[in-house]
Amino acid sequence: MSVHDVYVAGRNEIAELENVIMSESGESQQTPQSPIFFGTSPAMVESIGHTKIAAKKDSVVLLLGETGTGKSVIARWIHDNSSRKGRPFVSLNCSSLRGDLLRSELYGHARGAFTSAIRDRAGLIESADGGTLFLDEIGEMDLGVQAELLKLIEEKSFRRIGDDRLRYSNFRLICATNRDLMAAIASGSFRLDLFYRICVFPINLPPLRKRKEELPSLIEHILKGLGYTHVPLQSDVLNLLVRNQWHGNIRELKNVLERAILLSDGSELTKANFFTPELPAGNESDAGFDTWDLAELEKRHILAALKHFNGDKNKASLALGISLSSLYRKIETYNVNAI
Ligand SMILES: Nc1ncnc2c1ncn2[C@@H]1O[C@H](COP(=O)(O)OP(=O)(O)O)[C@@H](O)[C@H]1O
Ligand SMILES: [Mg+2]
Repeated sequence: MSVHDVYVAGRNEIAELENVIMSESGESQQTPQSPIFFGTSPAMVESIGHTKIAAKKDSVVLLLGETGTGKSVIARWIHDNSSRKGRPFVSLNCSSLRGDLLRSELYGHARGAFTSAIRDRAGLIESADGGTLFLDEIGEMDLGVQAELLKLIEEKSFRRIGDDRLRYSNFRLICATNRDLMAAIASGSFRLDLFYRICVFPINLPPLRKRKEELPSLIEHILKGLGYTHVPLQSDVLNLLVRNQWHGNIRELKNVLERAILLSDGSELTKANFFTPELPAGNESDAGFDTWDLAELEKRHILAALKHFNGDKNKASLALGISLSSLYRKIETYNVNAI
């Protein structure tokens, strides 16, 4: 996904905006995007069909799926293939801000509206004029702000905080969540009326474990994206990958492959290049819950990684996704000396 402008730049009054990104898809600013993978499994056929329809229409889209299933990638694809391409694609992670900070981000504010409002500022809604507003993780949105979205979605009109002027923005709305919105509604953390406003065109992205037949072509696609074509997989590697449950979905697969490529010599991927956490046996519902605390779990995980790589701390730290120095620190803290 091309992200041209980390939104925090120059907006130091809201330092915690790490997850708020805004990107503009004007031709001159467009960076090449890795092509999207459209799977062919029965589980994906409907979702892809719906995604293509969504690109041709202007309705509100709600992307539903576990983390890493490609909701953000699909949102961007819909925008890039819609009549709004070439106009801004503005993305907000709704879980990153609450209350007035979130309002200010969305609606903008007038100078003097609050202590740190030293100048007039447009919000993301205004920036999305003519393009697409992507509200990611909408299931986590502050309940107070949810109510205010109703009118915005209906009328596309809003006011900057501390400003009387009614403004309009012609944006197309795409929302995404990995939450069960029905459960959130039942528990009172999501508004039913907002659900009806955003659930105009829902698209379900199935988890990777429900479309394992796509794994070989998806792996090839990801490796190609990493610059590796025709990297053979040792026969037992695919079995290993197919057996994994991929709770982190495509994101996890991509990370595992990237790591394996780093650990391999680039000619062939072997089982030794893969290290996946030992997941509890059985399916999700009957998976037991061990009573180890987190520290104990981390210690065992580090130990397993070291054993797997025959004590090679470089490889173990890569596989664990931590630096060599933090691995040494943890080995000392946990007194891991079994290797
Ligand atoms: N259909 C796809 N084609 C190619 N890459 C994908 C696809 N779906 C997801 N990915 C990759 O997986 C990662 C997670 O995707 P993302 O859209 O951020 O998931 P989500 O928003 O559902 O958590 C991204 O790095 C992206 O490159
Ligand atoms: Mg996402």
